[in-house]
Amino acid sequence: MKTYNTIKELQKELEVQKQKGKTIGFVPTMGALHAGHISLVHQARAACDIVVVSIFVNPIQFNNPEDLDKYPRTFESDATLLEEATCDYIFYPTVDEMYPEKVNQKYDFGLLETVMEGAFREGHFNGVGVVVNKLFEIVNADQAFFGKKDFQQLAIIRRLVEIEKLPVKVMAGETMRECDGLAMSSRNVRLTEEDRKFAPEIFSTLNWVNENMGNQSPTELMEEAMKKLSVHFKPEYFQIVDGLTLQKINKWEDTNYPIACVAANLGRVRLIDNLELNR
Ligand code: PAJ
Repeated sequence: MKTYNTIKELQKELEVQKQKGKTIGFVPTMGALHAGHISLVHQARAACDIVVVSIFVNPIQFNNPEDLDKYPRTFESDATLLEEATCDYIFYPTVDEMYPEKVNQKYDFGLLETVMEGAFREGHFNGVGVVVNKLFEIVNADQAFFGKKDFQQLAIIRRLVEIEKLPVKVMAGETMRECDGLAMSSRNVRLTEEDRKFAPEIFSTLNWVNENMGNQSPTELMEEAMKKLSVHFKPEYFQIVDGLTLQKINKWEDTNYPIACVAANLGRVRLIDNLELNR
């Protein structure tokens, strides 16, 4: 496994591989890797000849300076995990390498970005779009792998690929969870010991909603779920949406693909999760 800090060097190496006819699988990350990220690396490994993982804490997608400042940076242990997962290349650029000039690019993701994360984190998805487009241009992969844990991000990336007419195939990976149901996240290490005990209530609330679909309307369940979460969290939203448009539904008949999405603050840590509901 090799680590590249510059675009030029990485591209030179990838060009050699492409000339040999090798296919490239790409997993973009912000590091502080856990089993969720590694499951995507395994998926890429199984599907492609060469696996590239980027580690870049992208400043322009953070709307909260404290979140950016406290974002865990653990390159050494990340590299060990990636070596074990038989990754071929790590791309680990500096902010100056990625953004030598001020970024002015603005995407229009339509209604996808006006709801949920888009509504609560201003500029977040534009920052994600800019960095992922840039990474896609650099790596020029055949397939790129994203987790369903960030369900709205996945929808945004699919839209980005349409807008930019990129040749890459976007693949989705299932959400990896701790034994108690908490979705793995790089931010979980920032939970206090006490808060960590409450954290699985997000997943249990999602499951409660799934189990009660037969008895109650989406509107009632969203309200109840917000109440349940409010005991230990400061929930930002709990929405039942259509899995393609991401727009809120009021009646179960409004969608064939209902998904419940939640964001909630626990102490100073913001957690998100979602569950595809079985009708
Ligand atoms: P990051 O949060 O590091 O996540 C990198 C990838 O891992 C994303 O596709 C995310 O959905 C996936 N992931 C995170 N937790 C997961 C889990 N528990 N199970 C499965 N997959 C999981 O998402 C980002 O970075 C950034 O926004 C990025 C796309 C790299 C752009 O900067």
